[in-house]
Amino acid sequence: MKTVKIALLGIGNVGGGVYRILNEDKASIGHREGLACEIKYVLVRDVNKPRDLDFPKSLLTDDFNVILDDDEIEIVAEFMGGIHPAKEYMIECMKKGKSVVTANKEVIAKHWPDLNRAAKENGVGLFFEPSVAGGIPILKTLWTSMQGNDIESIYGIINGTTNYILSRMTDEGLTYEAALNDAKKLGYAEPDPTNDVEGYDATYKLSILASLAFHAKVPVEKIYVEGISGISPIDIDYAKELGYVIKLLAIGKKNGETIEVRVHPTMIKKTHPLASVNGAYNAVFIKGSAVGGLMLYGQGAGRMPTASAAVSDIISATNPANFKYTTFENTYETPKCLNFKNDWECGYYIRVSVHDRPGVLASLAAVFGQHMVSIQSVIQTGQREDQVPLRIVTHLAKEQSVKQTIEAIKALDGVIQVDSLIRVEDDI
Ligand code: NAP
Ligand code: HSE
Repeated sequence: MKTVKIALLGIGNVGGGVYRILNEDKASIGHREGLACEIKYVLVRDVNKPRDLDFPKSLLTDDFNVILDDDEIEIVAEFMGGIHPAKEYMIECMKKGKSVVTANKEVIAKHWPDLNRAAKENGVGLFFEPSVAGGIPILKTLWTSMQGNDIESIYGIINGTTNYILSRMTDEGLTYEAALNDAKKLGYAEPDPTNDVEGYDATYKLSILASLAFHAKVPVEKIYVEGISGISPIDIDYAKELGYVIKLLAIGKKNGETIEVRVHPTMIKKTHPLASVNGAYNAVFIKGSAVGGLMLYGQGAGRMPTASAAVSDIISATNPANFKYTTFENTYETPKCLNFKNDWECGYYIRVSVHDRPGVLASLAAVFGQHMVSIQSVIQTGQREDQVPLRIVTHLAKEQSVKQTIEAIKALDGVIQVDSLIRVEDDI
């Protein structure tokens, strides 16, 4: 039996789950993998803090150098979060010949070039399966099971917190605030949940996914982002009436050297498999040139699902044959040959409050026509001269044309305000 000594950086939600699996499943991991994983240190900020996990407090240290300088430590597993000092700690460890496992999508998405270089130059492993979609083995699938494909598109529900919030608002009529509170209690949300609800967490994950899928570095800054904090229960109800559900989708498409990457609330048909992904579950739907459509589904957040992916990485990190470095140019500069599209095409749902009087609808329709945006349906509910909601769904239209249309209709006599704009993806 091979023994490997490990240090955990952090023992909160994810680190705690990893500790539990490595400790409680010691015998079965030994039996299946021929491996004894021994946790020698656990780095924390505060060694005296009360903790919900039962483990020997002698493992705790608040001194990173103790771990760095211990040559017995072969694998360092980072579950602290944030950029600094996580990035520096990981690079220092790799320079000392230690392989690194991390759940930190922000640091991978923003500093992958430095981390990838440190791993490659020092001949060690850098593993980050738990950073994307929690327990779903999506990165291993992309690295090792889809080489026979050009990947054309990715559609992902890759943030558990927002999917949990939208599901509870849709199914139980919960308020946004109540659902967010529950997501925090369940350990799904990031320490600062703004990253979840405003879509940034999903952009980090999409940057990693799209880079591996399209074999090109997709920088976070190139991803259009809009979160769910503006989604109102009214739109959730109207979406249901139209046969849709609203999901925060991360979308990536590649056509030649043109890449389209965006994260935003999206109406999808309630019959699509992604529509039935509820709660903190995630799913990634990929279209490959050979395999066609493929969907991976599982828990995308939370202690044990995320720890499942992390433990798999720790086991992989014990064998140099599993070390992988990106074959695409992994630099901070975007390759000049790549073109990032900001004028994609999709359908649009637009809710506008208008005065209910003759000519208002005609003037609105004229503006859509002037901007080459074709209307699929219009629904007006109620009859009140002072204010009624109009719900307009368009055929496929260009993003920039729709934005210009919205600006133009805001200025029309009879239009009170544009309440919401949600993109519609009918052709996933
Ligand atoms: P968490 O519960 O807040 O735990 C963070 C741990 O790191 C704590 O033990 C903390 O120490 C320690 N820590 C933080 N900063 C430190 C520092 N500067 N020096 C030493 N120790 C430090 O966080 P988490 O939810 O487990 O998330 C950890 C990482 O996993 C993040 O990158 C997150 O994005 C990622 N992730 C989380 C989930 C999830 O469902 N929660 C899923 C996938 C990925 P103290 O205990 O002393 O405070
Ligand atoms: N906060 C993240 C989420 C954790 O809700 O998906 C998993 O990465």
